[in-house]
Amino acid sequence: MLSSIIIIDFGSQFTQLIARRVRESSVYCEVIPWDCCPKFPADNISGIILSGGPSSVTKNVSPTIPPAVWSSNVPVLGICYGMQAMVKEWGGIVEQSGGREFGHSVLNFKPSRLWLGLDEKQDVWMSHGDHVLKLPIGCVSIATSNQGVCAAFEHLEKPYWGIQFHPEVTHTTNGYKIICNFLYEICACSSNWTIENFLEQSIVSVREQVGDDNIVLGLSGGVDSSVTAALLHKSVGNRLHCVFIDNGLLRKNEVQQVTESFKNIGMSISHVDAEKLFLGALSGISDPEKKRKIIGLEFVRAFEKEAKIVNAKWLAQGTIYPDIIESSASSGSSHLIKSHHNVGGIPKGLNLKLLEPLKYLFKDEVRKLGKSLGLPDYFIHRHPFPGPGLAIRIIGPVTKETLRCVRDADAIFIEELHRNYSEDGRSYYEHLSQAFSVYLPICSVGVKGDSRTYEATICLRAVETVDFMTAKWYPLPTDFLSIVSSRIINEVHGISRVVYDISNKPPATIEWE
Ligand code: XMP
Repeated sequence: MLSSIIIIDFGSQFTQLIARRVRESSVYCEVIPWDCCPKFPADNISGIILSGGPSSVTKNVSPTIPPAVWSSNVPVLGICYGMQAMVKEWGGIVEQSGGREFGHSVLNFKPSRLWLGLDEKQDVWMSHGDHVLKLPIGCVSIATSNQGVCAAFEHLEKPYWGIQFHPEVTHTTNGYKIICNFLYEICACSSNWTIENFLEQSIVSVREQVGDDNIVLGLSGGVDSSVTAALLHKSVGNRLHCVFIDNGLLRKNEVQQVTESFKNIGMSISHVDAEKLFLGALSGISDPEKKRKIIGLEFVRAFEKEAKIVNAKWLAQGTIYPDIIESSASSGSSHLIKSHHNVGGIPKGLNLKLLEPLKYLFKDEVRKLGKSLGLPDYFIHRHPFPGPGLAIRIIGPVTKETLRCVRDADAIFIEELHRNYSEDGRSYYEHLSQAFSVYLPICSVGVKGDSRTYEATICLRAVETVDFMTAKWYPLPTDFLSIVSSRIINEVHGISRVVYDISNKPPATIEWE
C-alpha cells in the first residue's frame, strides 16, 4: 500500500507547492481544506503537514487544526500558520509583529532530526505577520533568527515539529532536504509514488469501477484529455467512446489535426458539430464565469446525447489535481479564482457517472503518464488549451468575428514559435509552457495603406511554468515579436495593434479570463 501524506490547507498560496515537493520525492500526498476533513483513512497515512495561510491566530476567530490530525497518531509538521496554530492550541503565545516579514532570512539551527545533514546557518524564506513569543510546555526551540526569535520547534515527547519559514519555496536553500527529512527520517515513508505504479493501479481501479459498462469521453486534443483517453483505452479497450465536440471555440485546423492524430494511434473518435449551439448560448455574454458555466453545461448536454447513442453509463473527463484545488472554495482555504469547467460546470442532475482517473495528478505527472502510455510527443508536449477554448481568450462577447480575429492571430503566433529557434537548437514553442493570443476589444487608431483604421487589439501571452500554479512571462526576443506583430497586423483583418503581456502569475493568472 502507498504511504501517503495529508496536507491540511489553511489557504496559503504555497500549499500546492508543498504537495509538489512531496510528490517529487516519490511520496503520495493529498491536500484537504482545514474545514472539511472528517476522519482520515488511518491505515496508510504516514504523516501530516499543516500549511501556511493568510489568517492570524491572534484574532478571535481563526482556522483551527482538525481533531483528526491528533487522533491519527502520526508525525505532524506545521509550516508558518500551521506552526502558530499548534503553538496557540497547546497554550503557547503568538504575537503580531509590527509588519509582515517577506523574503530572505538567515537562521541558526540547533540539532534536530528535521535538520539532518544541514549546517548550523541556513538561508530560508519567510512570509509571515506573526511570531512565536513563548513556546508551549514540552516544546523546545530548534532554530532562531539573529534577533533571537524562535523560528522552529520540536515537541520533546511527541513527533511534532513546527517551522516558521517556507521549506517548499526554492528560495529556502535546503528546503527540499528538510521536507525529505520529514518524509523519510521522521515519517519513514517509502518512495513508492511512481508513474508506473500509478498506471498499474489506475488500470485495475478503472476496471473495477466500470465493470462491463461503456464510457464516453470528451476529447479536446489537449494533454489531459488525450492522456485520459489513452489510459482508459488501455483499461477498457473499445468500450471507451471518444467524442470530439466542435464547439466553434477551437483553434485553427484543430478538428482535422486531432481526429487524424487519434486515428493514427488506433483510436476512433466521433466528431460532433455543435458550433451553433455553443455560440447561440454564449451570445451577448461577457462575464468570464458565466461563459465557463454555459460552456460546461453545453458540453454536458452534448455528452449526454452521445452517451445515449453508445449506451454509456460513464462520462470520463481529463480533470487534474490543480483543477480540483483551484475550484475548491472553502471558507479561508485556497480562494476560488476560476471555476475550471471540468469541475465547476457539471450540473447537479447529470445522469452519467463521472470518471476522472487523473484527478490526483499534476500536469508534469500527466505528461510522464502520457509518455509511459506511448502517446506521441505531439500530444505530450502540446501546450495546454482550456476547455472553454477561445471564449475565455476574447474579452467581452464571443462572436464569429472576434473568434476569427483571435483564431487567425493565434495561428500566426504559434506557427512562428515553431518556426524560430533559440541558440540551444530548440524552437521557442519548445521553450515555452504555454503561448496564445488574446482578443482585446480596445480599438485604437491606425493607418493601413492610405486609410485611417480604428480596429481592435491582440495581446500575445507566453509563459514558462512547471506546475501552472505559478508562471513567469517569457522574454521572447524583440525581433521575433516584431515579425509576429507585422504578420498579425498585415494578415488579420480587424486588428491594427499588437501588445505583449509581461505579467507573472501571481498576481496575474495565465489566461486573461
Ligand atoms: P490560469 O489562467 O488559472 O490557468 O492561471 C492555469 C492553467 O489552467 C488553464 N485553464 C483552464 N483549463 N478550463 C480548463 O480546462 C478552464 O476554465 C481553464 N481556465 C484556465 C490555463 O490554460 C492554464 O494552462
